[in-house]
Amino acid sequence: MSFNFRKMNILILGSGGREHAFAWKLENSPLCKKLFIAPGNAGTQLHGKNIPIAVDDFVGIRKFCLDEQIEMVVVGPEEPLVKGIYNFFSSDPLLKNILVIGSSAEGAQLEGSKAFSKHFMQRHHIPTAGYAEFTIQNFDDGIKYLQSHSLPIVLKADGLAAGKGVVICESVDDAILTFTAMIKGRQFGEASETVVIEEFLKGIEVSVFVLTDGSDYKIIGHAKDYKRIGEGDTGLNTGGMGCVSPVPFVDADFMKQVEETIIQPTIKGIREEGMEYKGFVFFGLINVEGKPYVIEYNCRMGDPETEVVLPRLKNDLVELFMSVHNHTLLQQIIEIDSRYCSTIMAVSSGYPGDYKKGFPIKGLTSEHDDVMLFHAATKQNGDTIVTNGGRVLAVSAFGKTIPEATQKALKKLSTIQFEGIVYRSDIGYEWRSPLQ
Ligand code: AMP
Ligand code: GLY
Repeated sequence: MSFNFRKMNILILGSGGREHAFAWKLENSPLCKKLFIAPGNAGTQLHGKNIPIAVDDFVGIRKFCLDEQIEMVVVGPEEPLVKGIYNFFSSDPLLKNILVIGSSAEGAQLEGSKAFSKHFMQRHHIPTAGYAEFTIQNFDDGIKYLQSHSLPIVLKADGLAAGKGVVICESVDDAILTFTAMIKGRQFGEASETVVIEEFLKGIEVSVFVLTDGSDYKIIGHAKDYKRIGEGDTGLNTGGMGCVSPVPFVDADFMKQVEETIIQPTIKGIREEGMEYKGFVFFGLINVEGKPYVIEYNCRMGDPETEVVLPRLKNDLVELFMSVHNHTLLQQIIEIDSRYCSTIMAVSSGYPGDYKKGFPIKGLTSEHDDVMLFHAATKQNGDTIVTNGGRVLAVSAFGKTIPEATQKALKKLSTIQFEGIVYRSDIGYEWRSPLQ
């Protein structure tokens, strides 16, 4: 489809692998004039100009947008969305014509408050785990609830807790300790003043990504994330150690159920409740005996899911974003590469616990067509690129099968070195057999 869109100056907010993947994709658009990333990393600067402004410095972002005549802002992480960057732009006479790709603060509550998202799912009859919510006011009822509930049981801090607010407890004692630490010990501060207690669902997880204008939507891809630090899904939870896309069990029948029972009622709910929403909905799902349930909503793309979803998406992303603002999303035909894509995260030794930063990274040579190197936490230090966080690099690769894609990513990773590098070599292990 051709549009008479003009070229735009675009600002991406964020500094992870997700934002590097956005920068890589947007730079390739004929509709992108100048590309900026705030604050970015050593990888994003290959595609645009990094600007040292924090993602929650709305006043600094405002000044930069006006100075550089920015016409589109693509918000990577949830924090500025939950803090209301969309509303900040739409209520400012000088910023309101800038296209912000993101949800309003009201819509971002789907991620920002577990209690809000559970109420929302209940109101709209969207399949999810049974739950109850508690605060200090009904603390004793919470203890009784835990004592009579089947195990395992899931405790969730209501607010944003840097990915650490969900605890799965195998015993009542453990559940009571965790519940007490969250509410009385304020383990996650304000975020755990309210705790959602949820039934444990057993199944395989998959995430589905949707772009919406708050009324219409398009599915842009799906992925399976490997969250645990250790091979074979062992050890502590992380932000994500790798992903594969597509996921073999996600067939047409499963996706039909996802659309009919989850995506459509969610988008309808967003519209009916009057939430402004011009961005991504990340549906964290679990497949329980062939039936999808929502584990969580996020108001943004995933990381490292973006590093497999965007390489497979053939559409021009700027054009898709423009159609979100023009309400022409339904005219877009989403085209997805039929190959498999795997991504593997290289992390710092010690992650997700304490780790050191500042180690030089060797082997950051340019990628081939079917292998992509995304920086997740890197920094330019003079002539050297150094590690700058827990999750350092994501290497994505295409293949005709999941094992082939993963092997290609591993081959590339074997040429990259930094002190203490750790990565999983078993991403997509469920489909290692030739039967997939
Ligand atoms: P969340 O932060 O909500 O994504 O939760 C983190 C992880 O906890 C999820 O990705 C699941 O692996 C797990 N989890 C959350 N809720 C449930 C549930 N009700 N049943 C089983 N596992 C869950
Ligand atoms: N990889 C999970 C997330 O982005 O929340």
